[in-house]
Amino acid sequence: MMKLKNKKAIVTGGSRGLGKATAIAFAKKGIDVAITGRDEEKLKKTVTEIKALGVNAFYEIFDVRNYKEVQVGIKNIISNLGTVDILVNNAGIAAIGSLNEMEVSVWEQIIQTNVLGMYYVTKEVLPYLIDKNKGDIINVASTAGLNGNPNISAYSASKFAVIGLSQSLMKEVRKNNIRVNTLTPSTIASDMTLELGMTDGNPDKVLQPEDFAQLIVAGLQLPRRAMLANASLWSTNP
Ligand SMILES: NC(=O)c1ccc[n+]([C@@H]2O[C@H](COP(=O)([O-])OP(=O)(O)OC[C@H]3O[C@@H](n4cnc5c(N)ncnc54)[C@H](OP(=O)(O)O)[C@@H]3O)[C@@H](O)[C@H]2O)c1
Repeated sequence: MMKLKNKKAIVTGGSRGLGKATAIAFAKKGIDVAITGRDEEKLKKTVTEIKALGVNAFYEIFDVRNYKEVQVGIKNIISNLGTVDILVNNAGIAAIGSLNEMEVSVWEQIIQTNVLGMYYVTKEVLPYLIDKNKGDIINVASTAGLNGNPNISAYSASKFAVIGLSQSLMKEVRKNNIRVNTLTPSTIASDMTLELGMTDGNPDKVLQPEDFAQLIVAGLQLPRRAMLANASLWSTNP
């Protein structure tokens, strides 16, 4: 089983929701964490919570849609962490609306954030993992990346792309002892899904961010010969 204590992780979109829960779960395992996002207030607050768990934690502000910002941000993170073992590509956005009615700019932003953003961050982190000949990348897709449904075409297209990117990368970097784990969760109570009115967040019924974080930790603890491909997480509640 992989020892997690003292590993170094980057969690994009770590200020809130699933990313925040993941960063906290990592800290509980003794992993040092860099979280990223755009909202400094939220990042600061989350870092304070993570640090209280006794690990090194800090934040870096960049917009994953901006390759130049990503390059600078990842460089800063590596010089602060010293190295990196785990990358969680979690930053993402969603919007609801028919293809016919959704603004072109909204459709574009979803693809830019969920697909290009993941590509930019991965491109900047990957050389460090290849150099170490070891590492874990966890890409957050969605059940929307497995099936298309009405009023979610941009998000669904972006998550299909995430799965394609992840499967290609997985097969490229196996030889470098790098695992690319792809997660396809269904609805989880987070700011995103609450804001979109997709759930009431009732913890008796709906998956919680902590459940998702547990899946990530479990995936990391699999024997190194095993990794997660399209690992779905569903609520037991019908
Ligand atoms: N919640 C669900 O039911 C569910 C299910 C399946 C998959 N997912 C996926 O899980 C991931 C996290 O979702 P969530 O529900 O936790 O959403 P969330 O609560 O809205 O959090 C999204 C995070 O991404 C960051 N982010 C968004 N756009 C960004 C940008 N352009 N640059 C940098 N950071 C950006 C946000 O920080 P800033 O706003 O500060 O930038 C925030 O930290 C997403 O990829 C989502 O598609 C969620």
